[in-house]
Amino acid sequence: MMKNDIVLKAAKGENVDRVPIWLMRQAGRILPEYRATRARAKNFIEFVKNPELACEVTIQPVDILGVDAAIIFSDILVIPEAMGLPYEMIEAKGPWFEKTIKNKADIDALRIATGEDLNYVLQALRLTKKELNNRVPLIGFCGAPWTILAYMIEGSGSKTFSKAKQFLYTQPELAHLLFDKITKSSINYLKAQIEAGADMVQIFDSWAGILSEKQYYEFALKYINEIVNAIKPLAPITVFAKDAHYALKKISETGCSTIGLDWTVDPAKARVEAGKNVTLQGNTDPCLLYADEKTIAKETEIMLRAFGKQRYICNLGHGLYPDIDKEKVKFFVSFVKEFKF
Ligand code: CP3
Repeated sequence: MMKNDIVLKAAKGENVDRVPIWLMRQAGRILPEYRATRARAKNFIEFVKNPELACEVTIQPVDILGVDAAIIFSDILVIPEAMGLPYEMIEAKGPWFEKTIKNKADIDALRIATGEDLNYVLQALRLTKKELNNRVPLIGFCGAPWTILAYMIEGSGSKTFSKAKQFLYTQPELAHLLFDKITKSSINYLKAQIEAGADMVQIFDSWAGILSEKQYYEFALKYINEIVNAIKPLAPITVFAKDAHYALKKISETGCSTIGLDWTVDPAKARVEAGKNVTLQGNTDPCLLYADEKTIAKETEIMLRAFGKQRYICNLGHGLYPDIDKEKVKFFVSFVKEFKF
């Protein structure tokens, strides 16, 4: 029996007696404890590939911040690597790929990843599940096919992802070929994560907002739909498509249990769009946590009342920024947990 399964309950649409909360990027540089563990690894990739260290930083926010779920410490870029495109994480700059996808031969050379290729993540999940000792649920994740394809073509982060978008406009058939391989890999990976102990999973479509609405349906949602269909019989699944506010109704029609919202979306409007049969998650602007406690409390209360207590999981509208004060994060988490409607 899980001691605190309030996040899972909310995801499944069961009644809860308070609002559950976890935070995207809750394991990270805001915690001195994270920085200390990270310093024990040679670099970010070695860190991600070390199940003991990954387990340690996955549990830190549960102990330190008091969140109601743990999210496995890893990265969405483990999928391109498992398919044959290794990456580096350059300090203060972000991801960088030596090889990128340019033509059909490049796509043909990619493998469809299996759980076996990502055994280090599965080991980290098994270990974390054991160490958590059923205190809170463990969340697994992957990147959405569009966000993954964007990195595989662009080769790094970008403000515009114009190379990736150019590929969609000029080589749509090849793009679909690549999307198909990424989707199959992601399904294998999420299934393996659930088998290894993930109680629920989330798809991160961080670059959704860079596509037009029409492109989003054709190149992004189509494949998210395939993933949700394969995974929903196995575990609750959340779709977080940043800045795709126009797509909430269509996302809810995939049958996902939860939709993650960024801060540009009004909670009441999101509820109308998404309907009653899905849980909403979000959507505090991480920058609110730079404000004083009074402001955090005031804005959070408005948000909580707008979402309501049921079918809701409190979170941010995107990940925590590294320079946010951990005491403010603790204040925010306690405020939500203690809030009485
Ligand atoms: O706590 C958690 O949320 C779990 C861990 C997690 C990480 N990355 C660890 C990480 C998760 C869920 C991710 C997902 C991820 N990775 C996304 C989707 C979510 C989002 O933020 O939009 C994306 C786009 C990536 C790719 C990525 N990884 C980038 C662009 C960067 C560099 C930017 C940065 O913050 O430095 C990373 C690195 C990364 N992944 C860090 C962490 C904790 C920071 C690296 C470090 O410790 O030096």
